[in-house]
Amino acid sequence: MLTIEWNKTTGWQKPHIVPYQNLSLDPATCVFHYAFECFEGMKAYKDKAGQIRLFRPEKNMERFNKSAARIALPNFSSTALIDLIAQFAKLESRFIPQERGYSLYLRPTMIGTQKTLGVNPPGSALLFVIASPVGPYYPTGFKAVSLEATDYAVRAWPGGVGDKKLGANYAPCIVPQREAMSRGFQQNLWLFGEEQYVTEVGTMNFFVAMKNKQTGQKELITAPLDGTILEGVTRDSVLSLARERLAPEGWNVVERKYTMKELDEAASEGRLIEAFGAGTAAIVSPVRTISWKGKLVHCGLKDHEESGEIATKMKNWIEARQYGDDEHEWSYIC
Ligand SMILES: Cc1ncc(COP(=O)(O)O)c(C=O)c1O
Repeated sequence: MLTIEWNKTTGWQKPHIVPYQNLSLDPATCVFHYAFECFEGMKAYKDKAGQIRLFRPEKNMERFNKSAARIALPNFSSTALIDLIAQFAKLESRFIPQERGYSLYLRPTMIGTQKTLGVNPPGSALLFVIASPVGPYYPTGFKAVSLEATDYAVRAWPGGVGDKKLGANYAPCIVPQREAMSRGFQQNLWLFGEEQYVTEVGTMNFFVAMKNKQTGQKELITAPLDGTILEGVTRDSVLSLARERLAPEGWNVVERKYTMKELDEAASEGRLIEAFGAGTAAIVSPVRTISWKGKLVHCGLKDHEESGEIATKMKNWIEARQYGDDEHEWSYIC
C-alpha cells in the first residue's frame, strides 16, 4: 500500500510504499465519529506490450481534491499523486493480468486522523492507496439488469454533497439497494423530487437513448452536473465519445433533467431505445426494465438481447482506450 501522512504544521510527509497492513488508530480518531473520509475508484491496465496504464487519472485526482476540500481535509498536487500511483501500480505489475477485462483496481482514500471528539477541521490526515486485481465484470458477456425506482429515499439533494465521493454518501444507500434486491431487482434507480427526476443508478451514472417526442431525433440523455450527480469519469468519457462519434451519425447528445414519467411515456410510445449505467467497475451496465409505480417499464432491449447498440459500442470504445489499443491522451502510461 501507498501511504502519505499529512499534518497542519508540516504539511505532506514523505510517501511510503509498504506491505499491506492494518492501520492502528485511537478510538477517538475523528474519521470514526464524523466521517472525515473520501475516496476514489480507478484502475491500472496492462497493454499488449506489458506497459501499465491508468485511465484519465487527472479526473480522479481533481474529484478527490474536491471531495477532500468539502470535508476540510487537505488538498495535494494531482501530478505528484498520479506519479506515486503510477510507481505503485508498476511495482504491483505482477498482479495485473494482461488479458482484456482484467485490471488492478486502485482505491485512493483519505481520512482525518486527529484524535479528538471536537468537531473541527482535522489537524492530521492519512492518504493511502490500496489495490486488488479484478476480472471482467461480465465474464460470459453482458447481462442486462432490472432496476427498482426508489422514490421513498433520496441519494443526494441540492446544496448537499452528492457530487463528492464521500464515504458518508454510501452507507445510507445500502438499505434501499437491499430492499430493491429483496424484491428481485439487481439495483435501484435514484429519483429526486416531486417531479421524480432520474438521477443515478446504484453507484453508476445513468444514460438513456430515446427518440425525441416532437422531432423524432435520436437523443442520448444523462442528468446534468447540478451538484446532486457524481461527476463520473465514465460519464464524461461516454459523453465525449458520443459527441465525437454518435453526433455525426445524427444523435443529439444532451445533459438535461428528465423524469421517470418521460421515460415511461417514451417506453409506451416505442421511443425508448436503450438505457444503461456507466461507471469504472463495469464501464456500462445495460438495463432491461425499471419497476416504477407498480409497473415494469421496458427499456428497449428485445428479450434475447443483453445490451443495446450504444452500450456495446461505448464499452468497446472505452476499453480500447484503457488498454491502449486506441492510443489516446486519456491513457496515461506509467
Ligand atoms: C454514486 C456514483 N455515481 C457514479 C459513479 C461512476 O463514476 P466513475 O465513472 O468515475 O467510476 C460512481 C462510481 O464510483 C458512483 O459511486
